[in-house]
Amino acid sequence: MRRGVQCQHCHMPDREHSWKGIHDPETFRQGITVSTITGRGKGGTVSVRVRVKNTGAGHYLPTTPTPAAWVSITLVDKRGAAIEGAHSEKRIGRHIAYKKGWQEIEDTRIPPGEHLELASAWKNGRVAKATHARVEIRVEPDEYYERFYRRLLRNKSLPANEAAMLREALKRTRDSQYSAQVELIRIR
Ligand code: HEC
Repeated sequence: MRRGVQCQHCHMPDREHSWKGIHDPETFRQGITVSTITGRGKGGTVSVRVRVKNTGAGHYLPTTPTPAAWVSITLVDKRGAAIEGAHSEKRIGRHIAYKKGWQEIEDTRIPPGEHLELASAWKNGRVAKATHARVEIRVEPDEYYERFYRRLLRNKSLPANEAAMLREALKRTRDSQYSAQVELIRIR
């Protein structure tokens, strides 16, 4: 680690072996800094650029291929209602799948000190009514397992007890999802 920080500083505070990681919203939140710029152009175009910087993890974020995080932008009106069609999102993580061997679909993990960007622009329709951009970071710590259990459950000849265990495991992966942060940014 360039800054001389050891793994233990973050993962074993006070020498305890709690080893908190991606399942802990507070740990994840400490890893990122989100900054947003908005603009209103001629012809009613609204543009939003979000940068998610890895300021707090001593390695790629998220580091392993099992979780996925999503950064999303939704334009909302003054009542907070979403503007139809004015939504975009980007997956953050190492997206792998098993199809005749391991395939890497995409790797959008953020190296330490670097950032990932999501930039979108909309116009027409109710976009003129947009007052704020809702920027959310959502985390699915067990995203890979979720897809894996769903695939296994598609097999209709599974014994009932195995299917029940898989459904329980699937529920646990879904319960682990959380919204790490939501911000309403005024459009200027
Ligand atoms: C500056 C703080 C920091 C340092 C130093 C750091 N980490 Fe992390 N680590 C994080 C954060 C924040 C997360 C949660 C986000 C993620 O999964 O990347 C994390 C997650 C992880 C995970 C995933 C755990 C899980 O829940 O799936 C592993 C494995 C990991 N770190 C290993 C290491 C190792 C090994 C080192 C030392 C070489 C290290 N980390 C150093 C902050 C740090």
